[in-house]
Amino acid sequence: MSPLKSTDLADLTETEIIGRAQQGDAGAFEHLYKQHSRHVYAVCFRMAGNSSDAEELTQEAFLQVFRKIGGFRGESSFSTWLHRITFNIVLMRFRKKRLGEISLEDTFDTDDEFGTLGKQFGRVDLNLTGLIDRIGLMRLQKWVGGLKPPAYPFAIDRGLAERGEALFRENCADCHAFGGSKTGQPIPVEHVGTDRHRFDSWTTQARDGFNGLSDFDWRYSHFRKTSGYMAQALDGLWARAPYLHNGSVPTLADLLRVPGDRPKTFTVGYDVYDQQRVGFVSDGPDSKAAGRPFDTGRPGNGNSGHLYGTTLPEADKRMLLEFLKTL
Ligand code: HEC
Repeated sequence: MSPLKSTDLADLTETEIIGRAQQGDAGAFEHLYKQHSRHVYAVCFRMAGNSSDAEELTQEAFLQVFRKIGGFRGESSFSTWLHRITFNIVLMRFRKKRLGEISLEDTFDTDDEFGTLGKQFGRVDLNLTGLIDRIGLMRLQKWVGGLKPPAYPFAIDRGLAERGEALFRENCADCHAFGGSKTGQPIPVEHVGTDRHRFDSWTTQARDGFNGLSDFDWRYSHFRKTSGYMAQALDGLWARAPYLHNGSVPTLADLLRVPGDRPKTFTVGYDVYDQQRVGFVSDGPDSKAAGRPFDTGRPGNGNSGHLYGTTLPEADKRMLLEFLKTL
């Protein structure tokens, strides 16, 4: 059967979704997981008393659900059935803790709706294997999405930064602030003017090739050829050096200079920080010994373009630079 997208699933009743899950539709499983995992987690948390056990028990409960869903006959509501499974999983855990390890068979209760499914344990279940990866990935995605970038670890002149913020708002925020009108959009390569090698190598042919790549149902199939490079929201900026998509500009101070004044060759890979120019130290014998050379004259390495802010007076650049440290 063809898997449904989650938008399609939203139009189905829960009974219909369960029906699909019973036929092995991974998207339907995922939908059930999304709908019910918070409740299951809450039950586990209440009973286990801590979040790490609760997370593990939640995973375990859903594994049981996915294994046993074929035997769910709708005699009770799905949430009641789910609740009972969760409850049993947690109780089993308490028992295990008290009695030491018990056999796998014992973890199957004899409730009639669950009855025969223990026998399926030895079967290879591809849907399930894929699904577990996806649940893990969703958790990972949620965790990564919630992480904050590391704060600038050195001193910041707050007064200067505050005045720099106004300059940022005026000159940069449209493209780089969270919620800016162009943030997250591609800026035409002719407009931003940075090295076009990477842009040109992503051809429409390459796009079609990637979109048609393999044929598992959750492959990424929306590769596009856009008009340029994306203007990203700038956070954790101090730690992103060297800058631009090709790392062709070693420091923020250099990015605020016209391309002719930016370093033509420098070192990358040294981990000592340059607090004046805001980036990693990229010249001198120590950086040479620790890092490797970067030559902006080589194909794809060009440091042209991105002229925004390059004509500001020196004093304004200092303020802007100070503010950029706070992002
Ligand atoms: C019209 C949109 C636009 C404006 C305005 C703009 N930028 Fe950008 N910026 C971009 C784009 C597009 C890129 C990516 C270019 C590339 O990687 O080749 C970029 C890249 C950057 C980067 C590199 C980020 C990284 O992770 O390497 C920094 C830093 C930056 N901009 C700072 C600024 C500052 C500071 C200003 C204001 C003075 C500014 N930008 C104004 C579009 C803009």
